[in-house]
Amino acid sequence: MVNVAIMGHGVVGSGVAEILINHADRIAEKVKAAVNVKYILDLRDFDGLSYSDKFIKDFGIILNDDEIKVVVEVMGGINPAYDFVKSCLLAKKSVVTSNKELVAAKGAELLRIAEENNVNFLFEASVGGGIPILRPMAQCLAANEINEIYGILNGTTNYILNKMIVDNMDFDAALALAQEKGFAERDPAADIEGHDACRKICILASLGFGKHVYPEQVKTEGITGVTLDDAEYADKFNCVIKLIGSAKKLPNGKITAFVRPTVVSRECILASVNGVFNAIMVNGDETGEVMFYGKGAGKRPTASAVVADVMDCVKHINARKYLSWEDGSPDYVDNSVEEKQKFYVRIKSQNYQLLKSEFIRVFGENTFFIGNEFSKELVFISDVTDENELKMQLDSLKGVCGLTVFHTLF
Ligand code: HSE
Repeated sequence: MVNVAIMGHGVVGSGVAEILINHADRIAEKVKAAVNVKYILDLRDFDGLSYSDKFIKDFGIILNDDEIKVVVEVMGGINPAYDFVKSCLLAKKSVVTSNKELVAAKGAELLRIAEENNVNFLFEASVGGGIPILRPMAQCLAANEINEIYGILNGTTNYILNKMIVDNMDFDAALALAQEKGFAERDPAADIEGHDACRKICILASLGFGKHVYPEQVKTEGITGVTLDDAEYADKFNCVIKLIGSAKKLPNGKITAFVRPTVVSRECILASVNGVFNAIMVNGDETGEVMFYGKGAGKRPTASAVVADVMDCVKHINARKYLSWEDGSPDYVDNSVEEKQKFYVRIKSQNYQLLKSEFIRVFGENTFFIGNEFSKELVFISDVTDENELKMQLDSLKGVCGLTVFHTLF
């Protein structure tokens, strides 16, 4: 029998406990050992559950119990998760986590400590919820050099954007629904402002390119600037708006990494990834583009990924899963230069006629645009261009009182 402790009994933690307890037979058969949840650490009381007797409030009990071989950390946040996880690894207990904030900030260090102590540190659930992505990248794509990773990495924002576009629902109502369904982070600002997707692209890039990418190195913009009008304009250009995270190798060995709202052509496969679903595209030099798709958030999909890692730890109780990357460096990420691309531009003015004539003066009369005399604004999708060049053109327009620019994916 292998004894396991779970730290945290929130949305994911309760799912992990339920799967491990309710499907104990199925799990035992697959790993050839009984997996017993011995403790659940949480400061709150949970009376009336079939497993209420397992709750403890003192982390020391887990740390000092030599019978505990695998610890699940599903508390979220850096503190005290970092100290707890580090202590467990140093005490030669394998750790499984869904905590992307922790892995994005401390992954290289914790992987090193796990290696030094001959235990495992696994975190499949930290990216893409129930989608198998980290293990396939580390194992199945191991023969490739990975050049680019991008996609829809946050279920909450994808759900909100989808509700805005398809159901014409406003932002706050869509967010409330995502919270109700258990998709959103404890503080949903982490979803909406792009930090959650940023942490996930850090983990993907660190694993894919072999060197740690820290959240502060990623240029991050959330979806708070996306309006229902933008969604409607994008639709007229046969596009949808998605929050896209991306990391790409540059010829000089550095990388670019960003998260931002992006106007995506309906011809692009990511445009049809809706609701809580995530899709991650990984470009390997031998495979070409590979897509990973599934539910990116929610109690059971995420818990299933955590439990699979627990099962892997149990199967490798005296062996190591080789998962690691180097420490990062301050100059490794360079977001100053980007490939040329098309841009979605929405310009507002107090004087629509002036705006129109200025637009034609600068962009030429053949550039297609959607004009809205009522709201005194004009929307167009630029030709493939350099962002700085576009900025200079927009700066030269007279009478502009509002501007929205989104990158695009065609
Ligand atoms: N809040 C996250 C999301 C949960 O919406 O994608 C899964 O990481």
